[in-house]
Amino acid sequence: MEFWKYYDVTHKEHLICNPTSEKKLDMLIDLMKLEPGSKVLEIATGKGEFLIRLVEKYNVSAIGVDLSPYHLGDAKTKVKERVPNADLQLIEMDGADYKPDSPDSFDLTCCLGASWIYNGHEGTLEYLMSNTKSKGLIVVGEPFWISKPPKEYFNLSEVKYESYSTHFGNVQIGENLGLNLLYTFVSNPDEWDRYLGLQWYATDKYVQTNPDDPDIPELLTKLNKEKYLYLTWERDTLGWAIYVFRKT
Ligand SMILES: C[S@@+](CC[C@H](N)C(=O)[O-])C[C@H]1O[C@@H](n2cnc3c(N)ncnc32)[C@H](O)[C@@H]1O
Repeated sequence: MEFWKYYDVTHKEHLICNPTSEKKLDMLIDLMKLEPGSKVLEIATGKGEFLIRLVEKYNVSAIGVDLSPYHLGDAKTKVKERVPNADLQLIEMDGADYKPDSPDSFDLTCCLGASWIYNGHEGTLEYLMSNTKSKGLIVVGEPFWISKPPKEYFNLSEVKYESYSTHFGNVQIGENLGLNLLYTFVSNPDEWDRYLGLQWYATDKYVQTNPDDPDIPELLTKLNKEKYLYLTWERDTLGWAIYVFRKT
């Protein structure tokens, strides 16, 4: 089954494709205090909800990059409906290859939930820093270990312990690069349950309405494995936070 199709089916019901609530996303946007026309870059923009809300509140000039044709299709539809006159460009490409015309020029750069593009949290911060103005803001969303799951988990999961740091570790990685931490939004179990539960709900809906899709056995095998890993271990051991840094 095509990777992007799996992601589209499982995230069909999501407005925000990470374990952050709309309330926290709006609190984050309130904190930004951007001037009209400020330049914003979001890598892995998904369905574009964060960028669209930034445009609605601050009338920023935004670029969103994502590799999924499905998510970008949803984002483009929302842009037409909600901010048709915005200076908002959506680019379908690998974030690893995206080089802005003028690096070092963005007032805000972000990547929520896709740090694998730059080989992890540190690489993501380095990439975003290289595209952010002095005194500009950098916002990343990243998992962290609350505690180390047992080896049964790592035997089954594709995630390695080294894939993530701790919450404080995520902060230190930024500070060691010279960034100043301004705020963290740490998700709670309700927000995690929403993020995972909506995937199970959306998949059930898809299976009910597309019973003849030959991809269904593979779709369910993958989904059920992820559900098991979450309910058995990740719900207690894996955290998620959005980190707001300022480039000094
Ligand atoms: C967990 S979702 C987060 C989406 C969005 N940032 C949000 O929080 O709603 C991860 C996103 O990364 C995108 N993605 C995955 N690999 C990518 C790559 N190499 N370059 C750009 N986007 C990528 C996926 O299409 C998906 O939209």
